[in-house]
Amino acid sequence: MMQSTLPKTMRAVICTATGPVSVMEIRDVPLPTPQPGQVLIKVLGFGINRAEMFTRQGHSPGVEFPRIIGIECIGVVAGYPAAETVESKSARHAVGTRVATCMGGLGRQIPGSYAEYTCVSEANVRPIPATDLSVGTLAALPEMLQTTWGSLVAGLDLRPGESLLIRGATSSIGLCALQLARKIGAARIGATSRSTEREELLRQNGADEFFVDGGEIAKDVARSARGGFDKILELTGTTTLRDSVKCAVSKGTVCMTGIQGGEWEMEKFSPMGDLPNRVRLCAYGGGPDDFMALPWEELIREVEAGKVKIPVREFKLEDIREVHKILESGGGGAKMVVVVSNE
Ligand SMILES: NC(=O)c1ccc[n+]([C@@H]2O[C@H](COP(=O)([O-])OP(=O)(O)OC[C@H]3O[C@@H](n4cnc5c(N)ncnc54)[C@H](OP(=O)(O)O)[C@@H]3O)[C@@H](O)[C@H]2O)c1
Repeated sequence: MMQSTLPKTMRAVICTATGPVSVMEIRDVPLPTPQPGQVLIKVLGFGINRAEMFTRQGHSPGVEFPRIIGIECIGVVAGYPAAETVESKSARHAVGTRVATCMGGLGRQIPGSYAEYTCVSEANVRPIPATDLSVGTLAALPEMLQTTWGSLVAGLDLRPGESLLIRGATSSIGLCALQLARKIGAARIGATSRSTEREELLRQNGADEFFVDGGEIAKDVARSARGGFDKILELTGTTTLRDSVKCAVSKGTVCMTGIQGGEWEMEKFSPMGDLPNRVRLCAYGGGPDDFMALPWEELIREVEAGKVKIPVREFKLEDIREVHKILESGGGGAKMVVVVSNE
């Protein structure tokens, strides 16, 4: 059942081909039609992710262009497929419910969230509890919380009292990890940036120790008062991974989640030579199941109470090229979001 008041067209950011920011164009396009099992969402806002820059640059295998990119959003349920069974109607969220979604092929295999409306699988939607949080703040949360919580809990199995090093900590995921690691009970948190100017930002967000990252920090970590770390969240990626594993204590774990350094592969990685004895290495790649498993309501309450503080930088749809230029020039320091509508 579609809503009769829906417009016939919408504005969307079309990524016309792979390439520089100029391949993204705002166009009027037909409103998407939800397919069986999908829900139509009126987008209120969406978070910006480095992954979308990578897709535009041609690093996401299997994506066909032109494509509306964007892997997450928050919005309002606006409709369902016209022909539906009684069973599917009873299982769904009512039209008008505020919801969040991320991943599930959004912006890659199916048209994404850089738009006024989008269609996603009903199974990949979570209602947003009643809250006074702004659209901008809520838009920052789905993918960031899913990735950070998943990396710390499912990837690293971070426990109260353990120490954590966040490599590439000024990214939105890194800043969120600082907050969530405290919530989990990490006793000591180290954080890195390539720039000493960002030490204060990281300390304000909960870092106990700062390491300026010129690519090799293992010696600095070894010389620090408390030495190696139990757990290491690798967000910079393959460019620093060889060094990160040397920052772990024996039986410590390194979780490779990010690729901020922009290099996808490591040449001549030798497990016996590059991995210190008894250091464990894993990777984290989040998906819809991880989003559904997230303690979503609890974390929204923590954000509302100011216990989890996420710096957010708001933009409009028209700013999308500027936003991607910021990503290309390094980015970080806040989660960037686009507010599409406050209704
Ligand atoms: N595995 C998953 O499921 C998953 C999900 C979401 C995101 N991710 C990944 O997590 C990472 C963070 O995502 P995000 O959207 O939060 O990123 P972001 O905020 O855009 O990250 C910006 C940070 O990246 C660092 N950076 C930029 N260019 C760099 C370079 N050439 N070398 C080293 N560092 C560089 C900068 O740190 P400094 O300038 O301060 O050093 C900057 O603060 C990304 O790699 C993303 O792909 C993974």
